[in-house]
Amino acid sequence: MSNLHLIDHPLVKHKLTLLRSKFTDVHTFRELMQELSLFLAYEATRTMPCEETICETPMTKTSGYLISSKLIAIIPILRAGLGMVEGLLKFMPMAKVGHIGLFRDHETLKPVQYYCKLPEGIANLEVFVIDPMLATGGSVAKAIDIIKQQGAKKIRFLSIISCPEGIKTLSEAHPDVEIYTCVVDDHLNKDGYILPGLGDAGDRLYGTK
Ligand code: PRP
Ligand code: URA
Repeated sequence: MSNLHLIDHPLVKHKLTLLRSKFTDVHTFRELMQELSLFLAYEATRTMPCEETICETPMTKTSGYLISSKLIAIIPILRAGLGMVEGLLKFMPMAKVGHIGLFRDHETLKPVQYYCKLPEGIANLEVFVIDPMLATGGSVAKAIDIIKQQGAKKIRFLSIISCPEGIKTLSEAHPDVEIYTCVVDDHLNKDGYILPGLGDAGDRLYGTK
């Protein structure tokens, strides 16, 4: 699938294995999620435009390149997407951060919106939507609907664990969105959880269960 970018790297595999493990504590889980987000951000910024600049080294002047992160919006889907924000901000410290609150109804698995605050002028920003889990794809498809209603055009989605069902839903709903993921897991179970997955990302991130 041409809009899918899989981060195939031994360090990612290593950290992902630790993230999945049910023996990983909440503190380590948070650290691993941030670290994996850095790898995703590294790959997802590969095609970002750079501006040429002049840089003075202690020895001489040379040409260099800078990314203007002022023109970037990072939009985590609450709650679990919050665990990825700091990782992305390490690379893009001047980015604006918006929030979209969605939870899945346990019966229907459909997303229910409870919050939305997006940066002003989002129509002119490059948008990075982040959520560690792409399961049915309903949550991210809805989040991107909301973001597009505000006029945003250049949107990327970064997810640590995805599955074929979610990739299909998102690609059909928003074929223009590039998807970056560390792994495509096997399938969803009947309750909408990814297998092998890591369980409930929000609960593991915040220790709520
Ligand atoms: C999780 C996850 C995604 C969503 C993915 O959030 O963080 O947002 O499920 O599932 P989907 O692809 O089937 O829509 P959840 O609804 O559990 O809310 P939480 O982050 O507040 O725990
Ligand atoms: N949300 C999660 O947190 N985990 C899953 O496996 C699916 C949706």
